[in-house]
Amino acid sequence: MTSSALEQDSRCSRWPALQPPAPVVSVRGLSRRFGRGCAHCVELTGEAADTNVCRRCGAVVAVHDAAFDVGPREVLGVVGESGSGKTTLLRCLHLDLVPDTGTIWAEGAPLDRASVVMVHQNSLAAGLYPELAAESNVAERLLATGARSFDDIRGLATEMLAELGLRRERHADALQTFSGGMQQRVQLARALVDPPRLLLLDEPTTGLDPTVQADLLDVLQRVTQRLDSATVVVSHDLAAVRILASRIVVLHHGRIVEQGVADQVLEDPQHPYTQLLVESRLT
Ligand SMILES: Nc1ncnc2c1ncn2[C@@H]1O[C@H](COP(=O)(O)OP(=O)(O)OP(=O)(O)O)[C@@H](O)[C@H]1O
Ligand SMILES: [Mg+2]
Ligand SMILES: [Zn+2]
Repeated sequence: MTSSALEQDSRCSRWPALQPPAPVVSVRGLSRRFGRGCAHCVELTGEAADTNVCRRCGAVVAVHDAAFDVGPREVLGVVGESGSGKTTLLRCLHLDLVPDTGTIWAEGAPLDRASVVMVHQNSLAAGLYPELAAESNVAERLLATGARSFDDIRGLATEMLAELGLRRERHADALQTFSGGMQQRVQLARALVDPPRLLLLDEPTTGLDPTVQADLLDVLQRVTQRLDSATVVVSHDLAAVRILASRIVVLHHGRIVEQGVADQVLEDPQHPYTQLLVESRLT
């Protein structure tokens, strides 16, 4: 075969190039400090300084220069010890905290608030209504997204709650009568009834009984795999993150010190901090 025929042949190859799907969300150069800051904050914090507090000015460098992508149907886990910057990062992705620098793009445009939903550890923080029925809490989000037919709204709310494992006879009960794990399911139903482009899970299983945790992890795993959305989950619980996430970002003093495939990072951590985190479950 001549070289031009070879070229032709490779262009017409029956095998498509193995390329990862385009990311849903791309984060680049994301930084957020608390406090006024000075010209030395970055050099006086981080790995070498072993702190996130600038000794010159006292500002906290909560997240510095974070960069990662999250693909469709991908669950990215964010781990790190207390104070490492996980919630700050999540709040920036939720757009309720404005980063000092950096960009968050979603499919070619700056991420907008309507495309993001956060499931909080506490359902009150998530803006749910404790006195309202579970189904009304879900229906309320549908109304907010423009649905108008009462029957459609009720039908969708009921379907989603049932899919998340809430028995039908409880759908009309007030949210405050539900256990923590059940309230998490209502939050999830509310989030997923109109799937966002980016789903954020903040410590979704922390504080729940072990059996409730296991059930909820099952549900989370099922729904996040089926969604086209990108998901970011923050948790102290490395075992939970391992179950949910396909990739992991490790934060230490606000810096991403390691990121990669979840099993690889947790089984063969390269960075000394990740090694410590995995060995001691230091969170
Ligand atoms: N509103 C704020 N004002 C001042 N400092 C803040 C504020 N929010 C967070 N910080 C500081 O930023 C750093 C990162 O905090 P963040 O809450 O993001 O950590 P985290 O990894 O979520 O910790 P945890 O696991 O304990 O929830 C910490 O040093 C924290 O004290
Ligand atoms: Mg936190
Ligand atoms: Zn400083």
